[in-house]
Amino acid sequence: MILSIEWGGFFMKLILCEDYDELSSKAAQIVAEQLKAKPDSVLGLATGATPVGMYRILVQMNRKKEIDFSKVKSFNLDEYYPISDANTQSYHYFMKENLFSKIDILPENTHILNGLADDPEAECERFEEMIESSGGIDLQVLGIGQNGHIGFNEPSVTLNSKTHLTPLTESTINANSRFFERYEDVPRQALTMGMGTIFRAKKIILLASGENKNKVVSELMNSDINTSVPATMLKLHPDVTLICDKTAYMSQYLGVDIGGTEIKFGVVDSSHKLVHRESIQTNCTNEKKLIGDIADKCREIMEKYPIAHIGVGTPGIIHDNKVAAVNLPFNNTELEKKLSSYLDMPVKVSNDANCAALGEAVCGAGKSAKNIIMITIGTGIGGGIIIGGKIYQGRGNAGEIGHMCIQIGGKECSCGLRGCWERYASVSALVENAEKAAKDNVDSVLHSIYNKNGELNGKLIFEALEKKCPAAQAVFSEYLHYLAAGIDSLILIFDPDMIVLSGGITGAGDKLINPLLKYVKSDIPIKISSLKSDAGIYGAALMGE
Ligand code: F6R
Repeated sequence: MILSIEWGGFFMKLILCEDYDELSSKAAQIVAEQLKAKPDSVLGLATGATPVGMYRILVQMNRKKEIDFSKVKSFNLDEYYPISDANTQSYHYFMKENLFSKIDILPENTHILNGLADDPEAECERFEEMIESSGGIDLQVLGIGQNGHIGFNEPSVTLNSKTHLTPLTESTINANSRFFERYEDVPRQALTMGMGTIFRAKKIILLASGENKNKVVSELMNSDINTSVPATMLKLHPDVTLICDKTAYMSQYLGVDIGGTEIKFGVVDSSHKLVHRESIQTNCTNEKKLIGDIADKCREIMEKYPIAHIGVGTPGIIHDNKVAAVNLPFNNTELEKKLSSYLDMPVKVSNDANCAALGEAVCGAGKSAKNIIMITIGTGIGGGIIIGGKIYQGRGNAGEIGHMCIQIGGKECSCGLRGCWERYASVSALVENAEKAAKDNVDSVLHSIYNKNGELNGKLIFEALEKKCPAAQAVFSEYLHYLAAGIDSLILIFDPDMIVLSGGITGAGDKLINPLLKYVKSDIPIKISSLKSDAGIYGAALMGE
C-alpha cells in the first residue's frame, strides 16, 4: 500500500508493507532501480538489524546479474568509536559480512569511518570531503532508532550538521547491547554523518520494522519537526520514502462516536494522541443509510491512515451484540457484524457512555486510576464503569446507572419504572424543579430570570445561584442531595479510585463540585471530564488496544 502523507505542507511517500520480507524486497527494489538508472551511483548505507533483509535480496540480485555494483561507490552512515575493523560488532565487519564480500563492489569504492582514527575530527573532515568529491550521495538508506535517531544523530537540543564524533545516549546503548556479549562492551561513542550530510543526499529511504519502532514511527508521523526526535527533520527533505511494516506502523485506531445529530470520527495513535478528527451529520432515514454513511467515512479515513482497529460507541441498549436505540434506526441491529463485514476489519461496538468512560480512564481525568465510574449528567444520566482499565459491560448493558431506583414509588420515568435516579439528578430534573420553584415564588430572582427567558436551563439556574436567590438555592440543595446519594451508592458498590463527571452542567466547574462535595459522604476524588466531547471517540478508538 502506497500512501502520501502530508506533514504541515510537506509530503512524504509511505510504503506500507505487510511484513519484514515485503519491506526488505521493496527497499531492495528501490536500490536496484537506482543502480539501473545510474550504474555509478553513490549509495549511503546503514547497518543495524533492519536493512539485513534488503542486503540479502541485493546479494541475490547481484548473483543473478540483475544488478551491478562494479561502478558503485558507498559511504556508511556511521561507525562505533573506538572499535577495530576486526571486531565482529564493528560496522566494517557488518558490511563485509552482509554485503561487500558477497557482491561485485570494489573494496576501494566502499567507505566507512575509521573507528580507530587517532584524530577523529580529521577523520570526519576527510569523510565529508570524500562524499563531496564523489559527487554526493544519490540514495541514502536509513534505519531509525527507538529514540528517533538517524545515523547516530541522537536526540539533543542542537543537532550537528557535519560528520562528527558523538556520545551515544543510554537508550541507544541499551538498544544496541543486544548485539554485544556484555552491556559494558557497547562503545559509548560513535562517528556519524551529520544531519546536513544526510540531508544532502538526493533521495532517502527510511526503513522501520517491528513493534519496538511503533512509538517512534507514530511520533515521526504526528509530531512537528523537533531535535528530540531527529528523524522528524526528514520532513524538510524533498524526496524521502518511509518504508514500514505493519507492526511498526499499525498503531492507529479509529474511534466512531454515534450521536443523534452528528457522528464523530477520530484517529488515536499509540501515544494516545488524537491525530485526526472530523464529523458528519447523522442521517436517520434508515438503518442501511446510517451504516453506509459510517462505513463510507471510515473507508475514507482508512485511505489516509492505516488503521489497526475500529471502535464504535452508540447510544442505546446492546444485548447479544444487537443494538436497539430509540433515536436511531437501530432495532436489534447487528452493528458490529455489519460494519466488520463492510470494512473487512475488526470492529468493536459498545455503549457510547462506556466508551467515554474508557476515554477518560485511559487518557483523560482518570488517567492515573484503574477503576473509575463516569457519570454523564444531561437530559438523563448515563454511566460507564471501568474496572482494571477495561469497560465492564455485564451481558452488554451494564452502566445504566441513571435508572437505579433512588425513591421507591417515586417519579415516573420514560423507561417505565418509578423513582429512577435520573428523574432527580439529571439536568432535566433540575430544570423541572427550578421552573416549578420559579412559578411558586413570584418575588424570586429565579422567577424574574424565568419570565425574561421564557424557560430555565442549567446556565440560568447558576445565574440565579450567583445572585444568592433562596428559591434557586433550595432547588439546588435538593438536587445535590440526590446527586450525592447516587454517587455514594455507586462508591459503596464499586469502591472505585475516582468518579468522573461529564455533561454540560460540569461546565460550572467548582460551582458544582465544591457544594456537591459537602453532600457526598465518601472521600474518593470526584473530577470533571477533561476530554469533554472527545471522550467518546477516544474510548471507542482505545477499545482496540
Ligand atoms: C546504523 C544506524 C542506526 C540504525 C538504528 C536502527 O547504521 O545508523 O541509526 O539505523 O539504530 O537500528 P536497527 O535497524 O537495528 O533497529
